[in-house]
Amino acid sequence: QPNGLALTPPMGWNTWNKFACEINEEVIRKAADALVSSGMASVGYKYVVIDDCWHGARDAHGDIQADPARFPSGIRALADYIHAKGLKFGIYSDAGRLTCAERPGSLGHEYQDAAQYAAWGVDYLKYDWCFTGTQDAKAAYTLMSDALRASGRDIVFSMCEWGTAKPWLWGRNVGNLWRSTWDIYDGWQGRQGNSLGVMDILDQMADLYPYAGPGHWNDPDMLEVGNGGMSDTEYRAHFSLWAVLAAPLIAGNDLTNMTPAIKAILTNTEVIAVDQDPLGAQGRRVAKQGDLEVWARPLASGDRAVVLLNRGTAPATITVNWPDLGYPAKLPAKVRDLWQARDQGTSKGSYTAEVAGHGVVMVTIRPAV
Ligand code: DGJ
Repeated sequence: QPNGLALTPPMGWNTWNKFACEINEEVIRKAADALVSSGMASVGYKYVVIDDCWHGARDAHGDIQADPARFPSGIRALADYIHAKGLKFGIYSDAGRLTCAERPGSLGHEYQDAAQYAAWGVDYLKYDWCFTGTQDAKAAYTLMSDALRASGRDIVFSMCEWGTAKPWLWGRNVGNLWRSTWDIYDGWQGRQGNSLGVMDILDQMADLYPYAGPGHWNDPDMLEVGNGGMSDTEYRAHFSLWAVLAAPLIAGNDLTNMTPAIKAILTNTEVIAVDQDPLGAQGRRVAKQGDLEVWARPLASGDRAVVLLNRGTAPATITVNWPDLGYPAKLPAKVRDLWQARDQGTSKGSYTAEVAGHGVVMVTIRPAV
């Protein structure tokens, strides 16, 4: 049964993409402070999530402890700090014997760990898939899902299985979001080991739109916006595409050290409103010609959100035709450019824009009848 949480894609910040295992309570408190002072909290980012490497050993009762050197005040104190800022607190574990970074996993301790998280005030659990042996993914995630429910606390359940066991087919009754791909890296295109660039992840998301909806989301991984490997144009494209995909918006950069351009990307309220649209329909690719693509999603208002994507390096002209959006060919419609924050007048049948290389133009299209 769905748990009734995450009716729009979760928004927040996670330690992993920037800090990996170089974490401690100070880093996380500073991130929570910056989430508020940057204005990100007030536009919707609320979960502060510790990823891998927070763990120490289990104690004599088998209760999981935080690493005392990195978290001398303890997890409960950190959760209290985050809650006092009006934010929510997330933590990480793994369905196997060990986490991916070889800290203790939850295998065999699922109910014990869920109860501990609830006692600490955890609001979100990311549950990874390393060292799982021969376990069945659906069974393993269902076990932790049941344990979280039995804890009596509302805990968003983020399943990090990377798509191998097709979690989109069974995930909606088990958790609130499921990774549909391997890890992202901070680059536009191509592979680095097992990690994928933004375009490669996008392609893997293309067929998954039927499976997303309120409370259950495909997760193309956390944002790399601001981590330095891409241009601002590419980061704007990354953020726009995640919004049209109804993806969780989990920032992964150093919030205490953002350029104005990066902050402006992460806090664009019109793009965030597309991501958070209550209809919860994931966008799809509605047209493609070589490197030029049109992605679109219907919004609760009946409007369409559209991303014109130029995967090539040279600037190009891209047109979206109304029939590709499910609108009549001659319908007059008002176009608003979300990055320019500007109304572009009324168009009949199509809209054309010049799009930078590795860039997007993102618009909403509203029937003008
Ligand atoms: C693999 C996951 O896909 C990443 O997002 C991150 O959680 C690491 N494991 C942590 O070890």
